[in-house]
Amino acid sequence: MIRTLRAVVRLRRPVGDRTARRLRGAANVDDLRDMARRRLPAGVFDYIDGGAEDELTLDRNVRAFRETTFRPRVLQGLDELDTSTTLLGRPLAFPLVLAPTGFTRIADPAGELAVVRAAGRAGIPFTLSTMGTRSIDECAAVAGPGARLWFQVYAWRDRNLIQALLDRAAAASFEAICLTVDTAMLGRRERDVRRGLTLPPEIGPGTFLDGIRRPGWTWRFLRSDPIRFANVEGLANGGGGARSGEITETGGTPGTGERAVDLAGYMNAQFDHGLSWDDVAWLRTVWDGPILVKGIQSVADAVLAVEHGVEGIILSNHGGRQLDTAPAPFDLVPAVASAVATAVAEAGAGRIEVICDGGIRRGSDIVKAVAAGADATMGGRLFLYALAAAGEQGVDHVLELLRSGTERTMALVGASTVDELGPDLLESR
Ligand code: LAC
Repeated sequence: MIRTLRAVVRLRRPVGDRTARRLRGAANVDDLRDMARRRLPAGVFDYIDGGAEDELTLDRNVRAFRETTFRPRVLQGLDELDTSTTLLGRPLAFPLVLAPTGFTRIADPAGELAVVRAAGRAGIPFTLSTMGTRSIDECAAVAGPGARLWFQVYAWRDRNLIQALLDRAAAASFEAICLTVDTAMLGRRERDVRRGLTLPPEIGPGTFLDGIRRPGWTWRFLRSDPIRFANVEGLANGGGGARSGEITETGGTPGTGERAVDLAGYMNAQFDHGLSWDDVAWLRTVWDGPILVKGIQSVADAVLAVEHGVEGIILSNHGGRQLDTAPAPFDLVPAVASAVATAVAEAGAGRIEVICDGGIRRGSDIVKAVAAGADATMGGRLFLYALAAAGEQGVDHVLELLRSGTERTMALVGASTVDELGPDLLESR
C-alpha cells in the first residue's frame, strides 16, 4: 500500500535557490505582474503598469487579443515544431522583440544588462531606449556572440545629440534603430500625476511610507549606483531648452540623473514636436543600418513609411501610455499588412517588416499577431514585470513562457512552422 502510494504521490523535488522556487509559482505574465506589484513601491509599479488618461487603450491592447478566437486545424501531420523565423534578414528564435523601456533600473538595479543577457540567451533582439538607464557601451559589453541589439531614438531638439548617440550605437555594433514617433508630447499618465512621480523616484517624506512597505526594493535602490539617463549623460545639456519650472529641482545637473525630473516636463522641453518625415530622411544620412519607425497607428502612415524607404514599421501606441483611445496595434495588423504589401509592390521596395507592439501577454498572442499578418511582435511590460518580480531569472522565465507558449499554440492550431501561420487560422472579429 505504502509502496503504491509512494509511486503515485511523488514529493516535489526541492528546487535550487529561492528565486527559482518563487518562479515556479509564476505560470504566466499576470502572475509575474502580481509578484512585481508586491515587490515594488506603489509609485514605481504604477509608472510601469499605468497608461494614459482612462487607460482605455492600455486595456484594449490586451483585450484585442483575448477577443479573437482561433480556427484551429487538427490532424495536420505536424513535423517537428519550429518557432523560428527571420527578421531584418537575421534569425529570430520566435517572433518577439523586446521593446525599449525607459528607467528600466527602477524595476531592478541590474536593469537593461539583465534584459540584454536574457534576450541573447532566448535568441531575440533587445531594444535599448534613449531614456535607458544603462549605456550603449554597457549593454554591448554584456551582449553575447550573436546577440541582437537595437537602439531607440527620440526626437531630441538637439540633432547633434542624436548623431552622437547613433555613432556610439554603430561603434558598439547595434543592428538597427527605432525612431519613436508617437511622443510629440508625453501622454498624461494620471497615476503618475496623482503620485507626483519624479524619475528617478525620490525617497523623501512623501514616498517614505511607500519605501518602508517595500524594504527589499528600497534597500537595493539605495545600495546601487544612482539611476541615470545613461545614454544622454555628458551629451544632453538637459536643462538647455527646458522650461525650468517643469523640472523638479533637487540639485545636480538636469538630464544626468543627478537630479530627479518630472518626466512630462523634461520630455516636453527636450523633444522636438516638429518631427516630420524629412527627419526620417535625415536619419538615413547619419545611420547606415535598418531604420524602423515605432508608433505608426494608421494605414495611411504605414504607406507613407513604405514610401520613405524604412525597413520596418512598428504598430504601437506606446503601450497605451500616449494617446488614450488610440487603436490597438493588433486591430490594425490585417489592414496595415495588406496595404504595406501593396505599397511595397508598387514602390518596387525591398522587404519591410511589420511588428505589432502592445498587449502581448502569451505565446498565443504572438501566434495571433503573426497569423493576422505581422512579421513579429514587441513587448515591454512583460519583461519589466518579470525583472521586478525576480531579476534576470525572472526575465529568462518569462521569455521561456512566451517561447513555449508560441510553440504549444502552433501545435494546437495545426502549424509546424511560422510560415504556416495565416489569417485562415483566426476567426474574423
Ligand atoms: C515612457 C517613456 C519614457 O513611456 O517612453 O514612460
